[in-house]
Amino acid sequence: MTGKIPLSMNAVEIVKPGGPEELQLVQRNVPNPKANELLIKIRAAGVNRPDVVQRQGHYPAPEGASDIPGLEIAGDVVAIGDQVENFHIGDQVVALLPGGGYAEYAVVHASNALPLPSNFSYVEAAAIPETFFTVWHNVFQLGLLKAGQVFLVHGGSSGIGTTAIQLAKAFGATVITTAGSQAKCDACIELGADHAIPYREQDFVAAVKELTNGRGADVILDMVGGDYTNRNYQAAAINGRIVQIAFLNGAKAEINLSYLMMKRLTHTGSTLRARPVDFKADLATELKKHVWPLLEKRTIAPVIDMIFPLKDAWRAHKRMEESNHIGKIILDIA
Ligand SMILES: NC(=O)c1ccc[n+]([C@@H]2O[C@H](COP(=O)([O-])OP(=O)(O)OC[C@H]3O[C@@H](n4cnc5c(N)ncnc54)[C@H](OP(=O)(O)O)[C@@H]3O)[C@@H](O)[C@H]2O)c1
Repeated sequence: MTGKIPLSMNAVEIVKPGGPEELQLVQRNVPNPKANELLIKIRAAGVNRPDVVQRQGHYPAPEGASDIPGLEIAGDVVAIGDQVENFHIGDQVVALLPGGGYAEYAVVHASNALPLPSNFSYVEAAAIPETFFTVWHNVFQLGLLKAGQVFLVHGGSSGIGTTAIQLAKAFGATVITTAGSQAKCDACIELGADHAIPYREQDFVAAVKELTNGRGADVILDMVGGDYTNRNYQAAAINGRIVQIAFLNGAKAEINLSYLMMKRLTHTGSTLRARPVDFKADLATELKKHVWPLLEKRTIAPVIDMIFPLKDAWRAHKRMEESNHIGKIILDIA
């Protein structure tokens, strides 16, 4: 470590499970990097729905991870462990963390960090890791989305949705999305979605069928669950893949298995946070190869909704829970 690194730092902790007011600014020790880790001076951190669920007490940090919320950051490498080869002090990076992002410093396994795309601010770059790692794995690796296929993503205006729309379009899919208001639908179209269904006014199953001449969607990325599950089966094409990443409307569902059998559907899903470092490292390698060039050219870029200072992390959570945001909410920690 260099002498400029302080012993303690500002961080936001969850005092106890509850509302946004349980997020409070505290002092914590600056962590020390282990052999394969980077110490990063955080300049900006992304806020994600899983942070809200953690604060509510339903998504504890995995074993060994920081109890401080925050799954993604952008910043500067200020110290490196003995075995780190591919990064140097002074490098600008983005990183996926299992926790600890709502703070001035964090350690991360070097394999889970990537260079800051050129011409990206820290705020923009902090919006990348969580949704890009998640979408790449679930849509392309599990969902096997290919050019020319029809992709349906629910919650198109969410952090995940805005990333999924852009990546699916960039890789040649036809994109249909659902969103809770006309303004959100308009934003999704602006971002490149071919069709956006205001799901409070229109039945998405009928709309998808109509838009695809009765064929349905090849891949569905779903964060809603509950009663959407059977409806996703109805909206899916023959050999369709449904990938579950959350269940905002409930984890239990009544389904008609005949859709699964008659259409030969695959229903799978995953959670990213607790996966091992090596798994995330492989994802980082794929993203660097296939997606970083698109970011460098700004063919795609995260959508930023609002920026809050670290001490106002509670306001960032309030904004997310009000669900009026479009894209990503960011903490500016410069
Ligand atoms: N499995 C994983 O590895 C993984 C990783 C990251 C995130 N996730 C999950 O992916 C989802 C999106 O994450 P995010 O960070 O992008 O969150 P976000 O921006 O807050 O998105 C949530 C979206 O869900 C829609 N929604 C639908 N039903 C809802 C309901 N009952 N309550 C609240 N919102 C509802 C909201 O928009 P409308 O107005 O359109 O309803 C909103 O845009 C979250 O559920 C998160 O937990 C999973």
